[in-house]
Amino acid sequence: MPSTVKPGLFTGLLRILLFSTLLIAISAPSTAQAISNSSQNCPFAKPASTTASKRAIQQIPIDVEGEHEFRMPQKGDRRGPCPGLNSLANHGYLPRSGIITTLDAIVACQAVFGMGLDLGGFLSVYATLIDGDPLSLDWSIGGSVHGLLGIGSSDGLSGSHNKYESDASSGRGDAFLHGGDASTLQLNNFKSLYKLQPDPSPGNYDLNVIAEHRKATFNYSKMNNPNFFYGPFSGVIVSQAAHTFITRFMSNNTENGPVLDKAVLKSFFGVVGDSLDKLQVIPGSERIPENWYRRPDDHLLVDFALDALSLQLSMPELLSIGGNTGKVNSFTPLDIGNLTGGVYSAQRLTDPDIFVCYMFQLISNVLPDLIKTPVLDILGIVGRLVGQFILPHYSPQGCPALTLDTSKFGIYPGRQGSGF
Ligand code: HEM
Repeated sequence: MPSTVKPGLFTGLLRILLFSTLLIAISAPSTAQAISNSSQNCPFAKPASTTASKRAIQQIPIDVEGEHEFRMPQKGDRRGPCPGLNSLANHGYLPRSGIITTLDAIVACQAVFGMGLDLGGFLSVYATLIDGDPLSLDWSIGGSVHGLLGIGSSDGLSGSHNKYESDASSGRGDAFLHGGDASTLQLNNFKSLYKLQPDPSPGNYDLNVIAEHRKATFNYSKMNNPNFFYGPFSGVIVSQAAHTFITRFMSNNTENGPVLDKAVLKSFFGVVGDSLDKLQVIPGSERIPENWYRRPDDHLLVDFALDALSLQLSMPELLSIGGNTGKVNSFTPLDIGNLTGGVYSAQRLTDPDIFVCYMFQLISNVLPDLIKTPVLDILGIVGRLVGQFILPHYSPQGCPALTLDTSKFGIYPGRQGSGF
């Protein structure tokens, strides 16, 4: 039976809760830590107890009427490479302007998609620091945003190639192959995913289907983009998320469990058309379908780590940092172990806890060097945002410190913009 909790009310309550918890950096182990600690034997198995407790929740319908009705973006509204954020803005769960704050994103992603506060915190803090204004905490899901005092003025997510936005995306094109446009959904990419479920069935784009698509997108960039770059953050983390998030967040939580059929997939990606040859992208039209129920449980950082690791089982290159060296098919991986002084070897990264540690260390230790803005250092902004928005929900116990030796990155002409 559908729950009576409406996202509007839910969002309000969550906001209050978040404001109070964000004031205190807690040191107790987070849910993610507790979950990962209990999955001892198989690194990719979800612990039964966690799954059972998380599953015992009813269907949660997402309101797409009234203040949350679908509206196409107006002139000046920002929309970018993320269909999740675009659809939230098109339904007013995020400001329809597309200029949002760190907290806006965390709250909306949790309320509408069931994204864990630790995962949402990580993604939104990264966006604030690298693509937004770390003083006002504004960032843009698409085009530019102007920072206070000129600090943090940036091109938003759309202009974040290699910093956030990555090559080998699920639906977006590689910047080098599309005149710098890595934000627009490319019909061919969408079609290659769409046709993995044969016509005329509604299909279900589960993680097995996504794993197949993941291999195809990686190989496509390798074989067609001489400047393909697969960076420490944009590649190893974001590029996987851009695939696994499709199943994990877009699926409709039906009475029979999660199903992501063709109609729902098209709606979230802003695509229309009844058959493969009639598909058409309508830019800006990403839409939450009617009668859509979000996942009942929150998808945490460690859940994402498990998914990302499951993808690399069939393609170990996904856990390497690398790229093409100026020619197609010249992908040269660098061993993460060598780049990190052996601290984060590819083998160690297959432990989901260590994978999450790697993510946390990237944002807390490596990112400050990439930003290189003295004012941010003086104000301790990175530490403050991590402390406010991530640490209340994730406790990085025993994470080895990460330093990256980037001296070998010079062999990748496509690394521009990455900061490395
Ligand atoms: C604070 C939260 C979020 C941030 C900062 C964020 C950021 C991004 C970025 C930068 C990309 C481009 C990646 C690439 O170039 O491959 C992207 C893609 C994507 N995001 Fe998000 N995202 C967030 C939340 C969500 C949510 C809640 C969903 C739920 C559906 C989602 C689903 C996707 C998908 C499916 C793609 C791949 C799109 C494509 O390649 O066509 N994201 N996101």
